[in-house]
Amino acid sequence: MTDAKPPALPERIPAHVAIIMDGNGRWAKARGLPRLAGHRAGVDNLRRVLEAAVEFGIRHLTIYAFSTENWARPPDEVRGLLNILDEVIDRELAQLHKNGVCLRHIGRLERLDPALQEKVQQAVALTRDNTKLVLNIAWNYGGRDEIVHALQQILRQGYAPEAVDEALIARHLFTAGSPDPDLVVRTSGELRTSNFLIWQAAYAEWYVTPTLWPDFGRDDLLAALVEFGRRERRFGGVPDAPG
Ligand code: FPP
Repeated sequence: MTDAKPPALPERIPAHVAIIMDGNGRWAKARGLPRLAGHRAGVDNLRRVLEAAVEFGIRHLTIYAFSTENWARPPDEVRGLLNILDEVIDRELAQLHKNGVCLRHIGRLERLDPALQEKVQQAVALTRDNTKLVLNIAWNYGGRDEIVHALQQILRQGYAPEAVDEALIARHLFTAGSPDPDLVVRTSGELRTSNFLIWQAAYAEWYVTPTLWPDFGRDDLLAALVEFGRRERRFGGVPDAPG
């Protein structure tokens, strides 16, 4: 047995971390369980990661829970995921509110059952003034769809073409109010953006781990932060050079 000390928390903590919680299906399959059992384990894991995010001083966390493409999954799985959303709000909302979490939804609510839409809106309204952590839940979210939605709003509001710039578009994205993500974490080893925050993550640092989402715990998040702390962020510029 080794006595390896856990790494120290780096000085530079990303203000906004976004996570693609991938690998629930494989986690379940490896245990001979149905895919939904993997999603349930994924939700349980979310609690651990949220606690760790607060502990590490992350102020904005965005999680990819259901994409605009996930409707193509088998109907039972889609229904199961929608039920999970419903149950999670019932079960966790009071505690999240007590812990100062501000819940936001990014994506479109339109395809959800009206009662569930209402539940999401009430959760968002209840927690809107909380400041400990902003938790953006991407549900029926797609990055391309988000840009289309933003442009539709801008056109409806009658902006002249010359008035359209990056800041205006950013203000019309679902994530308006959160800074761009500094770090995007993807579990389960896949090397794809999967239509996640494609505008906002233009200069994010990526961290991909083979760990499946239900197994991704506090120390894995810490490892991602340590790696982020080592990265030199240039935003297209050059490293600081003397003279
Ligand atoms: C990706 O794993 C995971 C999803 C598409 C769903 C993630 C959803 C949750 C963790 C639960 C819902 C969350 C909230 C906030 C209510 P996958 O199914 O693609 O896994 P695989 O690639 O191994 O098949």
